[in-house]
Amino acid sequence: MSNPMIEFKHVKKVYPGGIVALQDMNLRVDKGEFIFVLGHSGAGKSTFLKLILHEETATEGQIMVNGYDLTKIKSRQIPYLRRSLGVVFQDFRLIPTMTAYENVAFAMRVTNIPERQIRSRVPYVLNLVGLRKKARSFPPEMSGGEQQRVALARALVHSPPIIIADEPTGNIDPELSVEIMELLTAINKVGITVVVVTHEQDLAAQFHKRTVTIDHGAVVSDVGGETAVAPSEVEVIR
Ligand SMILES: Nc1ncnc2c1ncn2[C@@H]1O[C@H](COP(=O)(O)OP(=O)(O)OP(=O)(O)O)[C@@H](O)[C@H]1O
Ligand SMILES: [Mg+2]
Repeated sequence: MSNPMIEFKHVKKVYPGGIVALQDMNLRVDKGEFIFVLGHSGAGKSTFLKLILHEETATEGQIMVNGYDLTKIKSRQIPYLRRSLGVVFQDFRLIPTMTAYENVAFAMRVTNIPERQIRSRVPYVLNLVGLRKKARSFPPEMSGGEQQRVALARALVHSPPIIIADEPTGNIDPELSVEIMELLTAINKVGITVVVVTHEQDLAAQFHKRTVTIDHGAVVSDVGGETAVAPSEVEVIR
């Protein structure tokens, strides 16, 4: 039996003012899956991610993420939930006055990880995303693709079982987009569950992964996909 990493059961989300962002969202993502979530503007993609991150709460229904029942989660558990989710945003969200190294190290410092561990982990994750030589560069000196790779290194720093990317290629050139997608594929190959939200249908089509389309706050199609779990290789990134 595979384990669900993310499960939405009859989830409804109504924002203040009565806007229904999700109507009846049902979706299960198993450990080791790679999925694209496609949908037009306003379909509910960001709402779906905000619910996973527990930045918003469901109005109705049940959400399970990495073993946490988000309808019952205690506030002291929320930092643990968030640490188990590596997130990459369209606009990178790097600190421009910090080097690539410092941006990644900062994500560890805020969780009180000892400096010695930071000094070994940061070069390791920067190397994983192919940025060892750019450790001392500042974000404004880097290309969009490089900045997104720093953001990905930062997302990997706590060895999360799930990586979530919200329009990760929205601000980068098409050739570099493929590079980021290939990195996400490599990350998935070692057993990390990957969820990529995008409105770029062509990008999703190129990678032959499970593609879930949402429209007006519900899943309207769910096609393709192969599960790539290789538990023996999981330690490579951990
Ligand atoms: N905080 C909020 N308050 C009220 N309505 C909201 C809020 N956030 C989103 N909505 C509404 O909920 C619906 C779904 O929005 P959502 O941001 O999830 O869409 P999306 O698929 O991410 O769109 P986009 O591709 O433009 O980012 C939209 O009608 C939007 O206007
Ligand atoms: Mg959005």
